[in-house]
Amino acid sequence: MKKHPLMAFVLPLAAAVCLCALTNGCALQTSSESESHMRQIKIGMTLYRQDDTFISTIQKNFEAIVKNREASENVKIIVNILDGKGNQGVQNDQVDKFLSQGYDVICVNEVDRTAASVIIDKAKSADIPVVFFNREPVEEDLQRWEKVYYVGSDAREAGQMQGQVVVRAYQSSPQAVDRNGDGRLQYVMLEGEQGHQDALIRTEYSVKEVTNAGVEVEKLANETANWQRSQASAIMSRWIEDLGDRIEVIFCNNDDMALGAIDAYSAAELDQLPVIVGIDATPPALEAIRDRTLTGSVLNDSKGQAEAIFNIAYALATGSDPKESVPELDGRYVWVPQKIVTFANLPS
Ligand code: BGC
Repeated sequence: MKKHPLMAFVLPLAAAVCLCALTNGCALQTSSESESHMRQIKIGMTLYRQDDTFISTIQKNFEAIVKNREASENVKIIVNILDGKGNQGVQNDQVDKFLSQGYDVICVNEVDRTAASVIIDKAKSADIPVVFFNREPVEEDLQRWEKVYYVGSDAREAGQMQGQVVVRAYQSSPQAVDRNGDGRLQYVMLEGEQGHQDALIRTEYSVKEVTNAGVEVEKLANETANWQRSQASAIMSRWIEDLGDRIEVIFCNNDDMALGAIDAYSAAELDQLPVIVGIDATPPALEAIRDRTLTGSVLNDSKGQAEAIFNIAYALATGSDPKESVPELDGRYVWVPQKIVTFANLPS
């Protein structure tokens, strides 16, 4: 086809106009988007149970961080924190609401960590990133979408540190710990919720650490108290009746259950306590270490975890790559370091 001579002029002009419209459009959109992001972001958070002692410390720390960042960065950060009340159905509805209301990012402490795929698939279709924390989805679920992250503490490390507290107590005073002098530590284990990675792995590695140090052990009993102080206290009261002073060590997957065990001893009016170890280093547990009723704990750093959750969520909500502002990221995981806490290094 023969070209009209004017085409040589009109075509480039038309192209330039289109390009200009496009780029202007883009520029306008970008600046209005970034302006609104500067002014306001919305973070939705759902907790497996708001009354869980450790989870409530993450919540408090998270809220404090939000306040600071709002002030320092001059951003309005709307945070909506909901209680999943131990019910995955309730939590799924909460997630649906966050997604339909256009939250910028959601942070999920799952009721049932094996149900992550449902949440991830919904979030992916809405293109709203997710930061899971404390209750770890299986790796295949995390691989379902690149805008899914996890923040937690290494359960194996926690178990090993707890075992070290027992080893140190034994080595510094073998007769006081091995009360019957049979060269073995008779123990009971209070376990967290079945199926929670922290329950399974802490249980395994705490005992392994003791036997790896060459100290023999004998398990007298184990039972799940679902992370809860009152359940642990009831179980422990039964064990005190059945096993009495045969119990030399009480491993507890968390501090609340360790405090429940201590409650049972005080209810039974027994003041000669075995070695009792927990995990979390919550404020009431630190008090118990100070009183010398709790032998030791492992810091499950709720402040560090809240910071990591916030920093990832903030980056995602403002459209930047979390890798740039969260150097602790290992792939899409942050493992917050832990630390042994005993009377010797109690924070003042
Ligand atoms: C903590 C427990 C808590 C549980 C909730 C664990 O990491 O140690 O105290 O109850 O998480 O998921």
